[in-house]
Amino acid sequence: MDRIIIRGGRTLKGQVPISGAKNAALTLLPCALLTDEKLTLTNLPRLADVDSFGHLLNELGVSTKVQRGTDGSIGREMTMDAKSLASTVAPYDIVRKMRASILVLGPLVARAGEAKVSLPGGCAIGNRPIDLHLKALEALGAQIELAAGYVKATAPGGLTGGRYSFPVVSVGATENALMAAVLAKGETVLDNAAREPEIVDLANCLVAMGAEIDGIGTDRLVIRGKPRLNGARYQVMPDRIEAGSYACAAAITGGELDLMGARMGDMATIFDAMRVTGVDVTEIEGGIRVSANGRLKPSNVSTAPFPAFPTDMQAQFMSMLALADGTSVLTETIFENRYMHVPELARMGADIQVHGRTAIVKGVDGLVGADVMATDLRASMSLVLAGLAAKGETAVHRVYHLDRGYERLEEKLSAVGADIERLSDG
Ligand code: UD1
Repeated sequence: MDRIIIRGGRTLKGQVPISGAKNAALTLLPCALLTDEKLTLTNLPRLADVDSFGHLLNELGVSTKVQRGTDGSIGREMTMDAKSLASTVAPYDIVRKMRASILVLGPLVARAGEAKVSLPGGCAIGNRPIDLHLKALEALGAQIELAAGYVKATAPGGLTGGRYSFPVVSVGATENALMAAVLAKGETVLDNAAREPEIVDLANCLVAMGAEIDGIGTDRLVIRGKPRLNGARYQVMPDRIEAGSYACAAAITGGELDLMGARMGDMATIFDAMRVTGVDVTEIEGGIRVSANGRLKPSNVSTAPFPAFPTDMQAQFMSMLALADGTSVLTETIFENRYMHVPELARMGADIQVHGRTAIVKGVDGLVGADVMATDLRASMSLVLAGLAAKGETAVHRVYHLDRGYERLEEKLSAVGADIERLSDG
């Protein structure tokens, strides 16, 4: 298995090209199922999860053609053609590798009147149920059955518009409901919908495909269903979590990075929290400049749905605060088990105590390199960040987590001065 070796202590400086957003890509790809015309997505990141989603679409009978980007962005483009569907089943073998497979449920039942998706089950950051996905689809007239590890949704006469108010804000459930509602008969109203920029990206793509959606970017989405949607060409938004992670890399090494392609509007809360720690953030042509000088100040951060501070930035922020001059308090309100990086950071010398959903981070003067591994994507990135600042050598194991969400990580970091390489045991 590969591992990433970092010799810490270098100050990072230069430009980092920000890739297309993983989480936007994973909800834009299933939109191909909603039309018998071609959907082309551009600025797709080269990531394991995007490839897995492509395979899932192939399994359903969608033809996919991937090529180098022709839109000037750094990403690839994929043209998907779901003229006819070969299957409406998302099998266990694919779903177990990628939770986001559940996002084919809404589009499939909307287009084909039936869908069967293996239950994603638990995952490293909590038990992550899908009850809200199912309730929202039921509100649109789908019949839901659970059997033998699969969820089956049927709507033989097609879905019909309905009202659903999410009791908890859920990104994935909002996405599934929105993708289903665009082909349902009549009007659907989704209340307490998630407002993440990736949902705005999804809604904009659906509109480009001919959908009618009001309230984009708000917590109330009103959708007037159409009998059919058309194909489109759509550019995936820049990855705000990747950009935020590199912002932390600038901060933790006292460096200066230009995050090329990053959008300020998607990242206001992340940058507000960074400014509290003494980091400078300015808009430059084509991106955002993040720089830091000297020791960071502590800060208290609580995760919550957009526009608040994202849970997907909590681990990376914790690495930064582990070296701050004072004590910080982090509160994780979204996932119940998202502090698995804490014991690994402790092995590098961090002083962090977890009490339920709260972590008390007492800043230390320095971290030391160690062998570490994490059980999820963002936690792995927090260890890379710690390694960049630590004295000596850090080896981050289980690199496949990073490959799910960070495109060409070593290449991007070494281009701005990091001493980092990937070693393969094989
Ligand atoms: C998405 C993101 C993930 C991010 C998360 C929160 C993708 C592919 N993943 O995950 O990176 O960390 O949003 O911003 O876009 N919940 C339920 N029932 C449900 C669904 C969710 O109780 O049916 C709960 C979850 O357990 C969690 C909370 O709602 O506590 C938010 O989860 P949700 O927004 O759905 O996360 P995902 O869409 O899975």
